[in-house]
Amino acid sequence: MGAGIAQVAARAGFAVVMRDVAEEFLTRGMKAIDKSLQRDVDKQRLSPDEKGTIIERIRTTTDTEGLRDAFIVVEAATEDLAVKTEIFKSLDQVARPDAILASNTSSISITKLGGVTQRPERVIGMHFMNPVPVMKLVEIIRGAATSEATYDEVRLLTERLGKIPLDCQDSPGFVSNRVLMPMINEAIFALYEGVASRESIDGIMKLGMNHPMGPLALADFIGLDVCLAIMNVLHDGFGDSKYRPCPLLKRYVDAGWLGKKSGRGFYEY
Ligand code: CAA
Repeated sequence: MGAGIAQVAARAGFAVVMRDVAEEFLTRGMKAIDKSLQRDVDKQRLSPDEKGTIIERIRTTTDTEGLRDAFIVVEAATEDLAVKTEIFKSLDQVARPDAILASNTSSISITKLGGVTQRPERVIGMHFMNPVPVMKLVEIIRGAATSEATYDEVRLLTERLGKIPLDCQDSPGFVSNRVLMPMINEAIFALYEGVASRESIDGIMKLGMNHPMGPLALADFIGLDVCLAIMNVLHDGFGDSKYRPCPLLKRYVDAGWLGKKSGRGFYEY
């Protein structure tokens, strides 16, 4: 998702620094950006020159120091509180004192992330949807200490990126995943209990509800590890058994069948 966010920001005219822990991930990210922009070149919605200019606006680095001059940093690391906490602590040291630190987290508390920094009023959730270049929504989440000024700036920025900001309070799973993930989890239960085949479950939701993808295909697209992490956040956060992750989801993640990114999930890729 980080590459998608970098692409959208560069396309809106911003100079972007894309940071990852290893060169190979940066190379993969730049390839994804190239491929995504090429779709628009092929459809004559973008000239090859414009594509080149957008790509030139993105600088890559493995060094957090490279983010020193950013006016906003959007973190899009693994959906793991410990990982994100460490990143926010180090960003707080490196980034300009007035820089906004945003997280693309799908479910983790913005209040907690703000709490590990010296600038909780400048910490906010900016939750993009996958595929980032296509999806219009950015869910904006204010932590307990997020200031109105930070919120206003992030709303304006989101609009400049060509997206629609919709806000919600800091609550487990926010709105998007509080509603989406239990549906996906329930579809996995239906498969687990032999209620229907994967094709039937997905077909029923596609044809019957006009969803662009069935819930099992969508789970593969999002990543089964991410789905499990979000269900765990909902389960822990609300303490309600209705959010218990399906054993089949856990088994797939244990097996390393993480969906599209690993070549196998509920479907084979
Ligand atoms: N970059 C740029 N454009 C892309 C793209 C990408 N990575 N992927 C698809 N597109 C474009 C295509 O070029 C095409 O554009 P036009 O219609 O303008 O020609 C359009 O999107 C549709 O693509 P396709 O025809 O290839 O395929 P499709 O019609 O099956 O759509 C899809 C693909 C957009 C992914 C669609 O299936 C969809 O909307 N799926 C649901 C996605 C969704 O629910 N996302 C949210 C997931 S939850 C999340 O992200 C947050 C979380 O916290 C877990």
